[in-house]
Amino acid sequence: ASSFYEYYLNWAGPARRAYASGLALQLPPGYARAENVVVCGMGGSGAAGDYLAALSAAYGGLPVYVVKSAEPPRWCRGSLVYAVSFSGNTRETLNCASRAYRLGANVVAVTTGGRLAAWARRVGVPVAVVEEAPAPRAGWPQLFYTMLGSLKAAGLIQVPSSHVEESIQLLGDREKAEAEARELVEWLLGSSGRLVILAPEPYYPVAVRMRSELAENAKLAADTGQVPEIGHNMIEAWAAGGDARVLVLDPGEEPWSTLLHQVVGLARPASVHVVKLRGGNMVSRMVWGTWLAGLASVLYALRKGIDPERIRTIKAFRSVVE
Ligand code: PA5
Repeated sequence: ASSFYEYYLNWAGPARRAYASGLALQLPPGYARAENVVVCGMGGSGAAGDYLAALSAAYGGLPVYVVKSAEPPRWCRGSLVYAVSFSGNTRETLNCASRAYRLGANVVAVTTGGRLAAWARRVGVPVAVVEEAPAPRAGWPQLFYTMLGSLKAAGLIQVPSSHVEESIQLLGDREKAEAEARELVEWLLGSSGRLVILAPEPYYPVAVRMRSELAENAKLAADTGQVPEIGHNMIEAWAAGGDARVLVLDPGEEPWSTLLHQVVGLARPASVHVVKLRGGNMVSRMVWGTWLAGLASVLYALRKGIDPERIRTIKAFRSVVE
């Protein structure tokens, strides 16, 4: 196995350290008076914001709005804005951070360093420094748990500590995660047709993360579907085409498991694989699915002789927008 794969396999360490440093993050007192949260970030960095939005909606907390461009919302004066860039050098995030700052937002930079940290220190914005990883997407635990810890410390999200703790503990079950990731890879290699990743609405960020991990690490394209929304549109095309292969992310909760089952039954895909999102609460189930996405995408790449770390076309795009 490659060191990149080993890094994913050992997510428990960075997750635990990031959560502790998020809890300890000292934000200026005025920041906790924000009425909403904006997370600004691209790719693997912005992804952590999708999870916070879903968790705040489900558990309670300030509304979380995610921006994946250079433009913060015009209403962000007084908002708590996390500008998240693993490298600290992503053009869209740098612009979003400085525009939000000029609009009067309470900005926090979440990064390993780069230009984002330099800018934040220059203007006096707090910096949450996260641990290095071999790639931004592999550093998802750092970004997610740092922000979750800091929101919890400020009392802005009502996720119980025991749920966060359980999710980190789950990352210790490497044997089970590897076995399930291998099963998923076997199915991906052995099936054909248009790949669709299906998840119930609260867990949709996991489907999107799975799609992005497969795209970046495995260079494998997939669509995503959100249940029940998908039952009102895409299901028509899948049933007519008959060529979809469906990967179901099942949290084992009702009404979601039944709805997923019904959608799959009606779409009549050529092949189905179910990934059970393990864990006794929503945070754990989301983290489990995200971990499997990372592991399976790297394993798939290695099986196909693809370099999971090399993202030539993304780099080309980044140099175009610099
Ligand atoms: O995971 C990746 O490598 C990418 O999706 C990056 O996250 C994306 O290009 C943004 O870069 P950064 O996270 O450094 O801001």
